[in-house]
Amino acid sequence: MTYQFAAELAGRTIVITGGGRSIGREMATAAAAAKMKVAIIEVNKETLDKTVAELKSAGGDVTGYVADLQVESQINDAIAQIEKDFGKIEVFVNNAATHDPEDLLHTSLEMWNRTFAINTAAPFLCIKAILPGMIARKSGSIINIGTVNSKMMIGSDSYSASKGALHALTRTVAVRYGKNNVRCNTIVPGTIATEIWQERIDRNPAVFDVLKTWYPLGRVGKPSDIAAAVLYLASDQAPWMTGTEFVVDGGLLAGFNPMYPAVEGSD
Ligand SMILES: NC(=O)c1ccc[n+]([C@@H]2O[C@H](COP(=O)([O-])OP(=O)(O)OC[C@H]3O[C@@H](n4cnc5c(N)ncnc54)[C@H](O)[C@@H]3O)[C@@H](O)[C@H]2O)c1
Repeated sequence: MTYQFAAELAGRTIVITGGGRSIGREMATAAAAAKMKVAIIEVNKETLDKTVAELKSAGGDVTGYVADLQVESQINDAIAQIEKDFGKIEVFVNNAATHDPEDLLHTSLEMWNRTFAINTAAPFLCIKAILPGMIARKSGSIINIGTVNSKMMIGSDSYSASKGALHALTRTVAVRYGKNNVRCNTIVPGTIATEIWQERIDRNPAVFDVLKTWYPLGRVGKPSDIAAAVLYLASDQAPWMTGTEFVVDGGLLAGFNPMYPAVEGSD
């Protein structure tokens, strides 16, 4: 993917959680190519080290921080270290997530709480830690990665509920801190072909071929579809965008693609 970067992104600091692989990794790749200073917070040291090494060898200004976002002290330590290393955090992306595919009758309270800890509490704690700096500088862009699952029922019960709460948190931050010129938006991706799907691909290798028939644009998404939206919301090209659900889903939420031919009698 060739991105068109806003020039003012160069030199800005962006923090991406869960940037060791998949969508977060592509965000880091794009941000580094835009000459941003990139900090990745990631629990998996192996993927983190690999990604940081690869992006650095391509000329990127990228630093990794190992932290488990389920642990408040590790979040606060990582963010304090990043502020010390980079001076300030201008863009923060709450991307890390966990996904439990079970239906609610098979979801234990332990799994429900773990999902909410990573997908909902961690973004809350990260935002709480970075906001004072953004408020003091009267500037900041926070981007929460939500999901179409929080807009309609398509399975993954605890995951969908945890992300629905994240969508609500975006609105709270946007409205409460708009006066401080802190913008906060949710990106709402549809299906993106990443490693988080591996378990479902193992069960059904054709899962993306089935899913793509529901997408008006005829394909599932790529990590670069989301990375491009992140860089747009991070830039000065989106100065009046806050509190939004920025849908990047190939048209999935616009309607039920297989239904209209039956309604019109044209199927
Ligand atoms: N892939 C999709 O189809 C899809 C669709 C909609 C939304 N999303 C969202 O996009 C984001 C990225 O998804 P992905 O497909 O790249 O997922 P992924 O599982 O491939 O990557 C998630 C990353 O987060 C890290 N992570 C998980 N728990 C962590 C913790 N406790 N502390 C620190 N890091 C942790 C993982 O190690 C991993 O590197 C998520 O917020 C996800 O909900 C994905």
